[in-house]
Amino acid sequence: MADPLVEFDGVEKYFGDVHVLKDVDLAIEERDVVVVIGPSGSGKSTLLRCVNRLEEIRDGDIRLDGRSVLETDVNEIRQQVGMVFQSFNLFPHKSALGNVSLAPQKIRGIPEAVADDRARELLERVGLGDQTDSYPDALSGGQQQRVAIARALAMDPKVMLFDEVTSALDPELVGEVLDVIEDLAADGMTMVLVTHEMGFAREVGDRIVLMADGRIVEVSETEAFFERPETERGRQFLSRLL
Ligand SMILES: Nc1ncnc2c1ncn2[C@@H]1O[C@H](COP(=O)(O)OP(=O)(O)OP(=O)(O)O)[C@@H](O)[C@H]1O
Ligand SMILES: [Mg+2]
Repeated sequence: MADPLVEFDGVEKYFGDVHVLKDVDLAIEERDVVVVIGPSGSGKSTLLRCVNRLEEIRDGDIRLDGRSVLETDVNEIRQQVGMVFQSFNLFPHKSALGNVSLAPQKIRGIPEAVADDRARELLERVGLGDQTDSYPDALSGGQQQRVAIARALAMDPKVMLFDEVTSALDPELVGEVLDVIEDLAADGMTMVLVTHEMGFAREVGDRIVLMADGRIVEVSETEAFFERPETERGRQFLSRLL
């Protein structure tokens, strides 16, 4: 069998003396959509951030396509791993098009005209084909977040990581961002999503990973998790949502 696309192997992470990831094992296959849930402070964001080395792990390994991220150049990893955060962090002085086409030019050396064409295509794909020339401050939060997604896609990542990308949005703008993510899932993009939106988790996730206190405490197929969680932690987590 082929290597998983992303594989956590006995990962240990500390912030100072605080042990925040404990013996984490997780294999994510190509086209997998994995949704990570769990209480605040359980280590969900840290788990994602270790993949592209925004955080360094103390022990264990994380492999991307069979190769240790610890032994790979950070810039190379960040080209292969797209990440979108709660805060969109767009360049305020660049148009939507400029935000999406910049990195491929700067990092990949792609000619401007080619990068711009591709950026237009991606903005079209996230439903912003008519906003290519708009600057971030003229866009709604939902639109800005969709630009951020297009920007991540512009590097042709092997995997996309989403950390609570709808948490900062007004409720009426959440749906348009979730629709884009659902389209990506339908297209076969490999994704790991941290979310508190259980309806969305259930709809888009192939598997649910439940974290508690730095550990993965349950990994289940999505429907199975919501219908009949295997662990007491899983049952507790779901009962608190009701
Ligand atoms: N930069 C940091 N320095 C020190 N401790 C940190 C840092 N980032 C996170 N932590 C701690 O690591 C633990 C895990 O945090 P993390 O942000 O991964 O949790 P989370 O599951 O994403 O929580 P939330 O649902 O609130 O976003 C927490 O105890 C947090 O306080
Ligand atoms: Mg978090």
